[in-house]
Amino acid sequence: PGAIVIDHPLVQHKLTIMRDKSTSTQGFRRLLREISLLLCYEVTRDLPLTNITIETPLAEMQAPTLAGKKLVFASILRAGNGLLEGMLDLVPSARVAHIGLYRDPETLTPVEYYFKAPEDLSERMVIVVDPMLATANSAIAAIEKLQQRGANNVRFVCLLAAPEGIARFKNAHPEVSIYTAAIDERLNDHGYIVPGLGDAGDRMYG
Ligand code: PRP
Repeated sequence: PGAIVIDHPLVQHKLTIMRDKSTSTQGFRRLLREISLLLCYEVTRDLPLTNITIETPLAEMQAPTLAGKKLVFASILRAGNGLLEGMLDLVPSARVAHIGLYRDPETLTPVEYYFKAPEDLSERMVIVVDPMLATANSAIAAIEKLQQRGANNVRFVCLLAAPEGIARFKNAHPEVSIYTAAIDERLNDHGYIVPGLGDAGDRMYG
């Protein structure tokens, strides 16, 4: 349906606990970090490798290592940081971009308040992270901005996506793959994903 759904049992189990409104802020944050490790594993599954020569204690050998320049994780603030942290645990050498966007509650259009990215985006894979893809306005704007700065190899990772958001995203950025843990039913009148998990930023940070 336009997105790659990561249906790993651990992801699905953890997501269910995150959706439950009785899960605390502390629990929510920890689960988001845990899930982000698994999402990171999937989104990096096909990274290109190249062989280098190393010496083990016993012999010289050709062994695989990641090819090319370090990855960039681009976090859409605030909630993106919940995914970012776990991803950096798995790929500690990655570079990081921060994109500050909030949704105007009336118009649902994204308002940019911060943008800082590494210089050489055109030479790196850029993995954009944000737990929620609702109208997709935020993700589309973030990717637009990254592309203006040269990014040409972009992937998007979220936890929950609305079908409307996926359709709009694919229309704007057909070249960008979407990885998500679930595709929910719909958006409500306030642009919230239903059944969803509420506002990810609020549930993480209050
Ligand atoms: C939420 C969420 C996404 C955005 C998704 O952020 O984290 O960034 O809304 O909605 P969209 O697909 O309709 O653009 P919010 O604006 O609430 O900011 P926050 O993360 O700082 O709470």
